[in-house]
Amino acid sequence: MLTATQFDRARRLALRLAGIELVERHRALLDRRCRRLGLAEESGIERLLHAAEVEDPAASRRFVGLVTTRFTGWFRHPEHFALAAEHVRRKVEQRGEARVWSAGTATGEEAYSLAMAVIEALCCEDPPVRILATDIDAVALAAAERGEYGERALATLTPARRVRFLAPAAQESRWRLAPAVRRLVEWRHLNLVSAAWHLAGPIDILFCRNVLMYLQTDCRGAVLTRMASLLAPDGVLFLDPAEHLGGAAPLFGPGVNSAHRRPGAPAWRNPSPSPEP
Ligand SMILES: C[S@@+](CC[C@H](N)C(=O)[O-])C[C@H]1O[C@@H](n2cnc3c(N)ncnc32)[C@H](O)[C@@H]1O
Repeated sequence: MLTATQFDRARRLALRLAGIELVERHRALLDRRCRRLGLAEESGIERLLHAAEVEDPAASRRFVGLVTTRFTGWFRHPEHFALAAEHVRRKVEQRGEARVWSAGTATGEEAYSLAMAVIEALCCEDPPVRILATDIDAVALAAAERGEYGERALATLTPARRVRFLAPAAQESRWRLAPAVRRLVEWRHLNLVSAAWHLAGPIDILFCRNVLMYLQTDCRGAVLTRMASLLAPDGVLFLDPAEHLGGAAPLFGPGVNSAHRRPGAPAWRNPSPSPEP
């Protein structure tokens, strides 16, 4: 069990390294994760906290993995993917290309779902679209880049999409994403609260769903301000329906279906979501 002092140190570290706000109810969760990682002994967590505090890179990565939540899934809120793919289709028609960013992508399901939706909407296996997928958690990113999933992780993907976009992997009961889906996505480590993003706009579609809810209020506002400046004038930011823009609301126009655009962006030509294949 984490002592009160250790939990306090963990709180300060989570905020410094990732902008993540830990509150008292996270203490039991952190305890469970420490046990799962074999850090149950007081000396184990003590060593990790100390090494991360003195900025040991491996310990900092491990600590970040401890305080981030990787829960994700295929086509979560399918209407977001229909809206995003239709916007991408229009941009390709108008400009010949489109750029998408999945920020806080976790183990890849969100970015790969975007790739599938784009391939379906453009009826093309090699569309002129770049999907950048970023996360602070190196372990989640490595899993995403591998592009292989087990039966349980694939349970929510429709049978038609499984047939079209996945093939059996070398390892039994594992499935590998098709090259057409994989080559649309570029993976990159990116801490949303770090000073440098090394990322240029304009971004047409930005998914940042179920990420900001973990960040401290000031960090959330700063991230949204930077995101607004990277969005194309008619670009769209998607949050989870349970999330809101808070103090950054004036940077965006009124949201539709938790899709937010810059003030002055042309009105939505709201496509009716097509039935899932
Ligand atoms: C709950 S998952 C959301 C996954 C996906 N966006 C979705 O909605 O299904 C939250 C992700 O945000 C990432 N994250 C948390 N803090 C971050 C930060 N400061 N910078 C970048 N990613 C962060 C976590 O590592 C985790 O993978």
